[in-house]
Amino acid sequence: MERVNVSENLSLSRVIAGFWRLDGWNFTTDELVKFMHACIDRGVTTFDTAEIYGDTLCETLMGKAFAADPSIREKIELVSKTGIYKEGGFGYYNTKKERVLQSCHESLQRLGTDHLDLYLIHREDPCFDPYDTADALLTLKKEGLVKEIGVSNFDPFKFDALQKAVGGQLVTNQIEWNPVCFEHFNSGMMDYLAANRIHPMIWSPLAGGRLFKGDDEQCAKAMAVIKTIADKYGVEPAVIVYAWIMYHPVQAMPLVGSSKLDRLDLAIKALDVKLEHYEWYQIYVASGQQVLR
Ligand SMILES: NC(=O)c1ccc[n+]([C@@H]2O[C@H](COP(=O)([O-])OP(=O)(O)OC[C@H]3O[C@@H](n4cnc5c(N)ncnc54)[C@H](OP(=O)(O)O)[C@@H]3O)[C@@H](O)[C@H]2O)c1
Repeated sequence: MERVNVSENLSLSRVIAGFWRLDGWNFTTDELVKFMHACIDRGVTTFDTAEIYGDTLCETLMGKAFAADPSIREKIELVSKTGIYKEGGFGYYNTKKERVLQSCHESLQRLGTDHLDLYLIHREDPCFDPYDTADALLTLKKEGLVKEIGVSNFDPFKFDALQKAVGGQLVTNQIEWNPVCFEHFNSGMMDYLAANRIHPMIWSPLAGGRLFKGDDEQCAKAMAVIKTIADKYGVEPAVIVYAWIMYHPVQAMPLVGSSKLDRLDLAIKALDVKLEHYEWYQIYVASGQQVLR
């Protein structure tokens, strides 16, 4: 498995396992332990979660697996996130120093670990003081509770603001990108990341499974092109989507959200597929959202 150096001290597996949907997988702890080992055996050693996933249940379930088999924790890079909360069903953000510090301690407790390898601010917070949030992240890093820090879903302005406040220590932005989502191409974030040699983690690379449902016009258009290319290479369409994401020079790391190992294997298989340069553009414009000028 290829690895990506996101800093001098931390490398992540090129293909990452995402545990957002874990609370719906109905795994026993034993089954989760087996699933985690199967990921590790494949070289997929970076595991992604967040405080808000399953209203904290996902971190708790992962913590139970780490407790059942302590050998897992030392073999992986554990990523979690903070900043999203719910009050009486109302979702909002809180990236204030005290809240970030408290969240991190609570996540460590649920996960049963003494540190996170990477800690991310989950979403852009419109009521955000970059210097206050930076203070929290730098405190956690100094205390050894998190190895590296980063963000998720940030636009270039907020990324730049926090990056300045932490003295250049943000190592990634975890963003959505798939054949029907181009938000970060259109915001200039991809250019910012490429210019600063920062490698993004990519969530919902398969649009959360929507690509395969056939009831969405943009997905149907994108899939028609992807299937043609997949037939040429003799692989499943998902392989082409992962290959398309990993073709980009920004060295993106797709997060696989499936509970099924054969679907995780499709992302790994994509490492062996080398698309033609023009095919990247065919997929880029396939849904009809992007145009080449
Ligand atoms: N930072 C953020 O704001 C953010 C937001 C969302 C997610 N994430 C992270 O990114 C990870 C991946 O996100 P995601 O789960 O949306 O990724 P995804 O891989 O795009 O979607 C996974 C979903 O697609 C389904 N699927 C996969 N292949 C399929 C196929 N051939 N046919 C039909 N359905 C298929 C999976 O079902 P099966 O399980 O049945 O295979 C699963 O429900 C998450 O686990 C989380 O760690 C981060």
